[in-house]
Amino acid sequence: MQIRFSAFNKTVVAILLLALLCLTVCAQRKSASNNSSVDVLVQGAMDSELQPLLAALEGKKQIQLAAWTFWRGKIGSKTVVVSRTEIGTINAVAATTLAITTFKPKLILNQGTAGAHDPDLKVFDIVIGESTVDFSPYRSTHADAGAGIDQSHRSPIPHRLRLDGKEQVVFKSFPGDQEIIQTALDTPYKRGRILKGIIGSAFEFNREIDRMAWIRKTFGTASEDMESAFAAGTAAGFKIRFLAIRIISNSEFYSPKFEEIAGEYCAAFVVDVIKRLK
Ligand code: 5AD
Repeated sequence: MQIRFSAFNKTVVAILLLALLCLTVCAQRKSASNNSSVDVLVQGAMDSELQPLLAALEGKKQIQLAAWTFWRGKIGSKTVVVSRTEIGTINAVAATTLAITTFKPKLILNQGTAGAHDPDLKVFDIVIGESTVDFSPYRSTHADAGAGIDQSHRSPIPHRLRLDGKEQVVFKSFPGDQEIIQTALDTPYKRGRILKGIIGSAFEFNREIDRMAWIRKTFGTASEDMESAFAAGTAAGFKIRFLAIRIISNSEFYSPKFEEIAGEYCAAFVVDVIKRLK
């Protein structure tokens, strides 16, 4: 027997399926959120940047929300969600938004590896983000066809956030939380130096010294990564305390090889920072 669906029946089935999908995602998020706000959301883009955090997370429960993975548990006296943001700017914003709306963290720590913009920085030095800045947005002047590309004629475009739906606030960069900066600076670390600096982010992996020198001159950056400033901008929109902590894993000035172990060193340092939080 042949069953024939009318257009009306198809619409009803489509609506029912959509409602079922919404209910499933909402139920997933409700059970993940556990209805209480967590003390700390700590983020890393890659597995190699998360291992010491996951090892320190007591009673951990894995939670999958769409394309992003989270683990909820405790480090010391703090309730913590560890987030694998995955690499890049879109992943950073999406994972941060999802974590904020689901787990309602009081503090966000974005941590992991970075390349050096400051020629004095050494591999395994750690930069504590006095601020984070997106160094990708710019407006250029006109140039005719064949005139070439000249970054010296580019001027930065700041971000704007309409905080609480009121006036737009201009952010040239996103400041790190002063109290947590001090906690991080006071945390012991043996593998290199700990310095305060401006952490830059864009979906770029720069290896041209002139490009890096221009970014540093224009934005004052000490380092570059692909997530920090985007997580920071999202946190600012929700008025949540934020700090980026980045370890130098590569420096085009003297050591261009990506040292994967740096991710582990940074995460181990961040475990100690979390244990020292008041
Ligand atoms: N440039 C950009 N991102 C870097 N990362 C490490 N070094 C660099 C660099 N020189 C980080 C990014 C991304 C992954 C490639 O490692 O944040 O997650």
